[in-house]
Amino acid sequence: MPDPVSLEVVDGIAIVAIANPPVNALSQAVRAGLAGVFAAIEARDDVRAVVIYGSDRTFIAGADIREFGKPPLEPFLPDVINQIEACRLPVIASLHGTALGGGLEVAMGAHFRVADPAARFGLPEVTLGILPGAGGTQRLPRLAGAEVALDLITTGRQIGAEEALAIGLIDKIAAAGDPRTVGVAYAQDLVRQGAAPRRSSALPVQAVAPDVFEQARTRVAQKSRGQLAPLNCIKAVEGAMRLPFLEGLANERALFTELMGSDQRSALIHAFFAERQVAKVPDIKGVTARPIEKIGVIGGGTMGAGIAVAALLSGLKVTLIEREPEAVARAKANVTKTLEGSVKRGKLAQTKFDDIMATTFSASDDYSQLVDADLVIEAVFESMEVKKDVFTRLDAICKPGAVLATNTSYLDINEIAAMTSRPQDVIGLHFFSPAHVMRLLEIVVADKTAPEVTATGFELAKRLKKVAVRAGVCDGFIGNRILSHYRKAVDGAVLAGASPFDVDRALVDFGLAMGPFAVSDLAGLDIGWATRKRLAPTRDPREVYAAFSDRLCEAGHFGRKTGKGYYVYKEDGPCPNEDVLTHVADDRAAKGITPRAMSDDEIVDRYMAAMVNEAARVVEEGIALRPLDVDVTLLNGYGFPRWRGGPMQYADTVGLEKILADVARFAREDDFLWQPAPLLQRLVAEGKTFGDLNDA
Ligand code: 3HC
Ligand code: NAI
Repeated sequence: MPDPVSLEVVDGIAIVAIANPPVNALSQAVRAGLAGVFAAIEARDDVRAVVIYGSDRTFIAGADIREFGKPPLEPFLPDVINQIEACRLPVIASLHGTALGGGLEVAMGAHFRVADPAARFGLPEVTLGILPGAGGTQRLPRLAGAEVALDLITTGRQIGAEEALAIGLIDKIAAAGDPRTVGVAYAQDLVRQGAAPRRSSALPVQAVAPDVFEQARTRVAQKSRGQLAPLNCIKAVEGAMRLPFLEGLANERALFTELMGSDQRSALIHAFFAERQVAKVPDIKGVTARPIEKIGVIGGGTMGAGIAVAALLSGLKVTLIEREPEAVARAKANVTKTLEGSVKRGKLAQTKFDDIMATTFSASDDYSQLVDADLVIEAVFESMEVKKDVFTRLDAICKPGAVLATNTSYLDINEIAAMTSRPQDVIGLHFFSPAHVMRLLEIVVADKTAPEVTATGFELAKRLKKVAVRAGVCDGFIGNRILSHYRKAVDGAVLAGASPFDVDRALVDFGLAMGPFAVSDLAGLDIGWATRKRLAPTRDPREVYAAFSDRLCEAGHFGRKTGKGYYVYKEDGPCPNEDVLTHVADDRAAKGITPRAMSDDEIVDRYMAAMVNEAARVVEEGIALRPLDVDVTLLNGYGFPRWRGGPMQYADTVGLEKILADVARFAREDDFLWQPAPLLQRLVAEGKTFGDLNDA
C-alpha cells in the first residue's frame, strides 16, 4: 500500500496530499501520515506555509466509518487536528468535492480555507448516530456562530460554497481548478501578505439568545423523535458556549463516546453500508446496461404521473399513454401540476420546466408513439387482464431490445411476460407512492429476465436517484409480501384486545413514521380490500381472517380519499373513527374471542416478530438476496425508523432467540399465522445472526 499522505515542498510551500481512495477517509494510516508530515514540517526551516488537499475526486469525506465499532487506534483524530492547528506556519485547506465530517473538522483545524465553487460541506455525523467528535462542535460555533452550528450539526445537511462563505466557514471561493494549484496560489498570496496562523479554537464564541438551545431541543424532539445523537449534538454545542476550548473538546469527546457505544449508531451505519451494498448484485456483475434516453409510461394515474415526473426531472424524454383523450388531458394536468410544484419549491428552474413542457414531455392515447421508446413502464389498473392486454400491445409496437416494465404491486410478472414474444425483456420496476419522492425502487427479476435488462433497471434507478433493491417474483415481492404478513399480525393484535388506535400509537412510539392503520387510510382501504378479494379463493381455511376492515369498505369508507376510514378526517386533523370499535367488537364476538388488555411492548413484539419471520422466508426463498436487502426495502419504502437499521438489524440487536420465542408465544393463539421460518430456526440453532448472512 503506498503511503496515503505525502509531503512535497515547492518554493517554500509544504504541500500535503491525501490519497486514500475512494473518498480519502481518515483511516488510521491517514491520521498517522498527517501526524508524521506535520511533525516533519515543524522541523524544517525552509517552509513558509502549508497546503492540505485531497487527491482525485474529493477532499476528505470524514472518518473511516469501517473502523467504527472496533477498538480505536492511535493517533486519534482530535489530537491530529489539534497538532495541525498548533502549526507555527499558516495552514491552508484547499477544498473540493465533499469536505464532510472529520474532513471538514480537519479543514476547520487549518487556519485558512479556500474552496472550489462546486465543493460541498457538512457535518453528517448525526445521520450516522454520532456527533462531530474531532472538534467540529467546538470550532464551528467559533467560526459561524452557535445557531448556524446547531442547524448544520443537528440536521447533517450539506451546504454549497456560497453559503459556506456567507457563514464564515470558508475564506474564499477560487475559480474552478485543481485543488493543489488553487491551494498553493492562495498560500503564496497569504505569505506575500505576511499572514500569521489564525486558529479557530482561539476565536471568541459569540453569545446567543438564551432560548436558542431550548428551541433546538423542541425542533429535534419533533423531527428526530427517539434519536439520541441530535440531543448530544446540542449538548456539545452548548459546551462550546460555556467551557474553554479544551474542556469543550473533552465534553464533546465524552458525548461522542457515549453515542459510539449505542445501538442507534450501529443501526445507522448498517443502513449507510446496506444502501451501498444493495447495488452489488452478483447476476449483473460486469453486465452492460442498455442505453435509456426515451421512456414510455402507460397509465397516467397516481403512479404513472409520478413516474413520469421522476423521469422528466432526471432529464429523460417521456411519452405518457392513457386510454382516451380526456384521460390524456387529466394525466397531462397531473404531471404539469407536480412539476409546477417543483418550480415553486425551487427544485426545478423555470427554464428547465419550459423546456420539459416544450420538448421532453408528451402525452397521447396512441400507443404507436412508443415505437422508439428504450423502456416502457406500465402503471395501469392492478388487473391481470388489463395488464396482459397492455403487454400484448407493447409487444406488437415496441422496437426490439426495448425494456418492458410493469409497476404491478403484487401480480405475477412471469404471467405478464408470457404475453409477449420477448419475456427476456420484461421486468418489474415497482415504484412507491409518490413516485417522484419515495426513494425505493424494487427491481423485480422474472424467470426469463435477461441480466442486461436487470442491469438497465439498476442504471435507471441511479439516474432517478433511487435506492434499487433486487427482488424475485412472488405475491408482493419483498416489501408488500412482508407488509401483508405484519398487517395480519396487527389485525390479530386487534382481535385479541388492542384497538387499532392503540396499535398505531405503540408503533409510532416505537419510531414508525405512521401507524399501520393510518397508513391503510392513506393508501386507500379499497386497495387492500381488492387484494383480499383476489386472494379469497385461495385463502387457507385455517387462516384467522379479520373482517373488520371489510365492514368499513362495505360502508364506502376507504380512508382519507372518502374522509373516513379508521380515522375521521376533519379540517382540524384526523381523529379515531369510533365505529371501528363496533366493527371490531362484532368481529371478536363472531369468532368467540374475549378481548384482553395488551401492552404497547406486546404490540411491538408482535409487529416485529411477524415482520422478521416473514422476511426470513423472503430471504430463504431468494426473493431478497440478503437480509440487508430487506432492511433497505423497509427503510426506504415503508417508513421503518432508520435509527433502528431495518427489521433484520433490529432482530440481530434484540437477539434472534427472542424473535423466535415471540413467534412461539403468539403461535399459542394462532398457530397458522405464527409458523416459525426455517431460516430463523436454523440461525438460532447455529448461534448466527442475519448480519452473518450479509457478510457471507
Ligand atoms: N468511510 C469509509 N468508507 C466510506 C466513507 C467513509 N467515511 N464514505 C464513503 N465510503 C465508501 C462507500 O462505502 C463506498 O464504498 P464501496 O464502493 O465499497 O461501496 C465508497 O466509499 C464510495 O462511496 P459512495 O458510493 O457513497 O460514493 P458517492 O460519490 O455517491 O458519495 C460521499 C460520496 C458523499 C462522500 C458519500 O460516500 C458519503 O456521504 N460518505 C459518508 C460521509 C460521512 O458521513 N462522513 C462523516 C463520517 S463520521 C466522522 O467523520 C466522525 C468524525 O466527526 C470523528
Ligand atoms: P390509478 O387508478 O391511479 O391509475 C391507473 C391509470 O391507468 C388510470 O389513469 C387509467 O385511466 C389508466 N389506464 C387503465 N387502463 C389503461 C390502458 N389500457 N392504457 C392506458 N392507460 C390505462 O392507479 P395507480 O394507483 O396509479 O396504480 C397503477 C399501478 O401501480 C397498479 O398496478 C398498482 O398496483 C401499482 N402501484 C400502486 C401504488 C400506489 O400506492 N397507488 C404503489 C406502487 C404500485
